[in-house]
Amino acid sequence: MPSGQPAAGTPRIGFIGAGQLGVALAWSLARAGYRVIGAASRSQASAARLAGGIAECRAYDSAQHLVDDADLIVIAVPDDAIASATRSLAWRERHAVIHCSGATEVLALAAAAAQGASIGGFHPLQTFTNTEAAIKTLPGCTVGIEAEEPLLGQLTEMAKALGCHPIRLPAGARALYHASGSFAASFLVGLINDALALWSAFGVEREDAFRALLPLTKGTVAALEANGPIRSLAGPIARADVGTVERHIAALRAHAPALLPTYLDLARRSLPIADAKGGASREKLNALRALLDRVGP
Ligand SMILES: NC(=O)c1ccc[n+]([C@@H]2O[C@H](COP(=O)([O-])OP(=O)(O)OC[C@H]3O[C@@H](n4cnc5c(N)ncnc54)[C@H](OP(=O)(O)O)[C@@H]3O)[C@@H](O)[C@H]2O)c1
Repeated sequence: MPSGQPAAGTPRIGFIGAGQLGVALAWSLARAGYRVIGAASRSQASAARLAGGIAECRAYDSAQHLVDDADLIVIAVPDDAIASATRSLAWRERHAVIHCSGATEVLALAAAAAQGASIGGFHPLQTFTNTEAAIKTLPGCTVGIEAEEPLLGQLTEMAKALGCHPIRLPAGARALYHASGSFAASFLVGLINDALALWSAFGVEREDAFRALLPLTKGTVAALEANGPIRSLAGPIARADVGTVERHIAALRAHAPALLPTYLDLARRSLPIADAKGGASREKLNALRALLDRVGP
């Protein structure tokens, strides 16, 4: 349970929405010395859970009363509810209002800006599915921030106080920035799911396949961390091993034809990495490219 002491002079922070992100962020901010004064949510139970973890924090039954008492309001509701939740409230010039969505434009908070409030985006680039785990993984992650000064400076300091790396997002960049997270996180899960499916073709249980593949994934992530994205590429594409890739293609065509286009696409996309790494000659890489082009689009 969080135990930070509110620091004098920091804004009074209120949370609207007390789900996975709201609770983890509110508790982390309180631990970092910020004054989280209250929460309002669709259900009183969620607001009470958030407030229960922070000294001198209240569960409000009216979001408007919370807004009236706070200076900085974090709108931590699902993306589709950000604009309507903001529109339903009355704002003042002293308010700063932020949302935590990666892909939603800051203009979803336009109703608050129209009444004189400052608006911004504060998106921790991390997955929050469990409060305690989220609080542990928040330090070290990046926070995508979009705001004008002086709010930009305040949010940058807040990210640093959480142990995060602030990065300023230019206007209009959010969707692309968030899509990059899909490649680095959710699609990785999808690829591992595909990898597991291949093992069923030779009779190995999914659980055993997962145990076999997970150390490989962890080793690759460790290599990425240590050596960066170019030097971490290993395997037949990095070596331009045409014979092995031919065998992969034949096996996929026979047992998992639906995965062949993905294999070919990812193999092609790996060729420039192999080239930059320099572990195989241009001639061998060209031969590999020719094989991939012969097999399909
Ligand atoms: N979870 C993540 O991994 C993650 C990571 C980065 C950013 N974010 C962003 O954080 C925001 C919140 O996501 P989340 O994962 O925390 O969602 P969540 O777990 O579904 O929580 C949403 C919370 O908002 C409350 N709520 C829903 N509609 C509301 C409304 N109209 N007025 C007031 N409260 C309302 C919910 O109500 P009750 O519980 O009271 O029923 C719930 O407490 C989103 O913008 C999301 O994109 C999430």
